[in-house]
Amino acid sequence: MQIVIEPLGPNARKPLAEPLAFGKVFTNRMFWQKYTPELGWHDARISPYQPLVLDPATLVFHYGQEVFEGTKAYRRPDGHINLFRPWENTNRMARSAQRMAMVAPDPESHLEAMIALVRAEHEWVPSGANESLYIRPTLIAADVSLGLSASRTYLHYIILSPAAPYFGNGFKPVSVHVSTEYVRAVRGGTGAAKTGGNYAASLLESERVKPLGYQQVLWLDAIERRYVEEVGAMNIAFVYNGRRIVTPALTGTILEGITRDSVLKLAPTLGYEVEEARLDIHDVLRDIASGEITEVFGMGTAAVIAPVDRLGYAGKDYFVRQAPGPIAQHLLQALTDIQYGRAPDPFNWTLKIEVPS
Ligand SMILES: Cc1ncc(COP(=O)(O)O)c(C=O)c1O
Repeated sequence: MQIVIEPLGPNARKPLAEPLAFGKVFTNRMFWQKYTPELGWHDARISPYQPLVLDPATLVFHYGQEVFEGTKAYRRPDGHINLFRPWENTNRMARSAQRMAMVAPDPESHLEAMIALVRAEHEWVPSGANESLYIRPTLIAADVSLGLSASRTYLHYIILSPAAPYFGNGFKPVSVHVSTEYVRAVRGGTGAAKTGGNYAASLLESERVKPLGYQQVLWLDAIERRYVEEVGAMNIAFVYNGRRIVTPALTGTILEGITRDSVLKLAPTLGYEVEEARLDIHDVLRDIASGEITEVFGMGTAAVIAPVDRLGYAGKDYFVRQAPGPIAQHLLQALTDIQYGRAPDPFNWTLKIEVPS
């Protein structure tokens, strides 16, 4: 892949001394490339970060044909940089794009672009405890047309944003509210794709429960409204009796989280049992109340592991015994040690990018 690297203008900024709130500040450069059936993927460049100039009739604005990804770059103790399982992100973007009838860049060149951009912006990877550089690849339908059909042309771009530690003051638990009125995804729908519409559809319920003190929504299956699926932007796990970690099985309606998969592979090496199952919310609430479920936590790139202390359901709150609990803390430590290169990486999950010191 040929990537043109454009010079930075006089307005380039120095990296922030401290990352700010998530996703508000972006680095000096972005990657982008275009697709047309005639030329294939072309015009790949790393340019100064800049606004996109798009016709108001561009297809993405009207019919939402778009997908995105989220992963992070971590500063290693030796000063170099780690990406964590980036192959899974580029493959997942290709799967999401396939579901949305889009043309995606092949995962290898997508990864090449990601590495080139992170290398160009390596000074923006923060080195404070649990800080990181968030990577947001995006693919949008670029045809200028109001006709409802799959776009012929696409724009792929990647932007970077320094991220403060998810847990600013300690490992603070989150409260979730179980949605009984709205659903996130149906079987056969787009739940397993990382596409904007899934998130747009979740906002009404998450805004409704925020003033009630819940930070996230827990979604149930769309048909029986009883099987646990996932929370806002995280997969979810329940710990039974302090040693068995159970998470909903992948049914096509939930996002195949990379953190979830990492927990399923890593936890057995730390002495825990893992299970993917169909979890009835009524059983879950009963087991939280009885104390059989000792911990609940979310899993996702942003927080890695987010302990849950309270589930609201049908006007009643169910309090989790241990929040944060020892297994959540153990997993957070073990996973972040691999991500930051502080511990050996027996699964070959990290990709090291060497940068000048
Ligand atoms: C809906 C949803 N579920 C789960 C996850 C967790 O996935 P990952 O661990 O790959 O970040 C995310 C975040 O990407 C998400 O948006």
